[in-house]
Amino acid sequence: MDYKAQVTNSLLEALNDELTSADVYQKLETPKDLSMGDLAFPAFTLAKVMHKAPNMIAEELVSKINTASYEKVEAKGAYINFFLDKGHMSNEVITNVLEEGAAYGQNDLGKGGNVPIDMSSPNIAKPISMGHLRSTVIGNSIAKILVKNGYHPIKDNHLGDWGTQFGKLIVAYKKWGNEDDVKADPINNLVKYYVKFHQEDKEHPELDDEAREWFKKLEDGDEEATFLWQWFRDESLKAFNKIYDKLGVTFDTYNGEAFYNDKMQAGIDILKEKGLLEESQGAQVVKLDKYDLNPALILKSDGATLYITRDIATAIYRDQTYKPALNLYVVGSEQTYYFQQLKAVLLEMGLKSAENLHHIPFGLITVNGKKLSTRSGRIILLDEVLDDAIELAKKQIETKNPDLPNKEEVAKEVGVGAIIFGDLKNERTNNIDFVLEDQLRFEGETGPYVQYSHARAESILKKAGNIDLHAADKSITDENAWDTIRTLQDFPEVVKSACADFEPSEIAKYSLRLAKAFNKYYAHSTILGDDEGLASRLSLVKAVSIVLKESLNLLGVKAPDEM
Ligand code: ARG
Repeated sequence: MDYKAQVTNSLLEALNDELTSADVYQKLETPKDLSMGDLAFPAFTLAKVMHKAPNMIAEELVSKINTASYEKVEAKGAYINFFLDKGHMSNEVITNVLEEGAAYGQNDLGKGGNVPIDMSSPNIAKPISMGHLRSTVIGNSIAKILVKNGYHPIKDNHLGDWGTQFGKLIVAYKKWGNEDDVKADPINNLVKYYVKFHQEDKEHPELDDEAREWFKKLEDGDEEATFLWQWFRDESLKAFNKIYDKLGVTFDTYNGEAFYNDKMQAGIDILKEKGLLEESQGAQVVKLDKYDLNPALILKSDGATLYITRDIATAIYRDQTYKPALNLYVVGSEQTYYFQQLKAVLLEMGLKSAENLHHIPFGLITVNGKKLSTRSGRIILLDEVLDDAIELAKKQIETKNPDLPNKEEVAKEVGVGAIIFGDLKNERTNNIDFVLEDQLRFEGETGPYVQYSHARAESILKKAGNIDLHAADKSITDENAWDTIRTLQDFPEVVKSACADFEPSEIAKYSLRLAKAFNKYYAHSTILGDDEGLASRLSLVKAVSIVLKESLNLLGVKAPDEM
C-alpha cells in the first residue's frame, strides 16, 4: 500500500478541489522527527486560495478528515501531521516482504524493454583506470536496478580496441618487444613499448610512417597485423577479466570499436543522404549550431574515421539489434560535451533511439588522495587496489571473528564490497577520494557496516532456531521498531526513483538508512526475549535481512551470512 496515496485521499476528501491529487501527493513531507508524525501536509500552502491563516486551515481540515484508519491526525501550527497505524502497517509490510522475498520491490515499469548499457569500456593495451572501475560498478548496478524495474539490460563492454595506436604498438613490439614478457605481464609491457615508441619517434619521425602503414595493414585485414592485434587484445582481456572476476561483474557483449570497423559506411551514407556532411578544411563535419555545439568531425581529410564515426555505427547497430527502450552510456564526465555532440548528430540523422540516449556521467576518483598512476615506476593496477582491500578486510575479520570458517571467501566479499559500496554511496557526478581504511570500517557509512547489519540479522535468526514466521502475528507497535518498518515500506519507491535517476547512490543510502534503523531497534528492544512477541519480532528481523541483502545485491555487493 502506498501510504502517501492514502493520506492524499484523506486530504482530498476534506478539500473542495483547491488542489489536485498530484499536488497534494507532491506537497506531502516526511518529517525528520517521528514526533511530528509519518507524513505532514503543509497547510500554509493553501493560505492564499483559502484566504485564512495556516493554523486555522490545518484545524479545519483535520476536523473534516476521516481519522479512523490512522493512529492520530493532528493540526500543529501550519502543518497537519498524520500518524499511521503502526500495527496495521507493520503487518502489511512484513507480510509482503516475507511472501515476496528477494522479489520485494520488483515492478514492471520497464515492460521488458531492451536497454543496452555501454559500460566499463577500457582501452586495450592500457591499464584499466579508476574511471573504468567506476563505469563498471555504476553500470553493473544500474543494470540490476533496471531488471528490478522490469527492463532487460544488455551490458556491452565497448572496448577501445581500434585506432592508429595499434599501428604504433605493432611497430614497437616488433622492434623492442618479446613474447614471453607480454605473456607474463601484458599490460605493463605493452604500455612500456608504447611509451618507448613515443620517446623514439621524436628523433625518428619515420617510425610514424611505419605505424601508419601497419594500421592501414590492420584495417585491410593483413594476416600478421591481425594476428598481433588479436593477441594484444586477448592478453589485455585476460588482465581485465581478472578484475571483472574479482568485482563479480559479467558482460553480455564485448562489441568494442573494432567490431564496428566494417559497419561505418551505413552511418556515413545516411549523413550524406540527409545532406548533413559538410567539408571543412578538407575534413567532413556535421554542423551543430542548432544545438549550440561545435561541429562534429566525422571524417579526417585523409578519409580516416574517428571515435565518433565508430560511435555512430554503434548507435545504428544497437538501434537495429535491440530496438532499445533506453540507450545508456556510462562514461566519465570528461566526455559530456562529446556525448552532447553524438546525440545531436544522431538526432539529425533521425535515429529512433537517439531521443532515449542518456549519457550517464560520473566524477573523478582518487585513491588516498592520489591518481592511480605509478608506484616505483610501475603502473598501479586496479587489481592491486582490490587486493589491498581484501587484505585489510582479512585483518578486520581476524580480530573480530577469528573462528569464522570461510574467512578467505568472506574477506573477498567484504574487501571488494567495501570498494564497490564506497564508490556507489556517492552521487555519481561527485568527485571522490578513496581512503581504503575508511571504507573498510565496520561502522559508519560503509559497505561492511551494511553487510555487518545483515549478518547480525542472520545471526539473530540462527540463534532463535526454527520458529514458524509465516504464522506469526506481524502487527508490531513497538515505537523502537517503527523507523525500521517505515524504511522497509519505502523500498519499492526507492527502487523506482533510483531507476528514474540512474542513481545507485539512492539504493546505497537507503541500505545505510535501513541498517541504522535496524541497529537502533536492536539496541533498544530485546529481540530474543522469551515472550509471545518473539515470533513477530523475528519476522521483522527476517524482513530486514531480506531487504538489506537485496539492496546490496542491487549494488553488486555480496551479503555474507556471517562475518
Ligand atoms: N574507451 C573509451 C575511454 O576509455 C570509453 C568508451 C565509451 N563508450 C563509447 N561508446 N564511446 O575513454
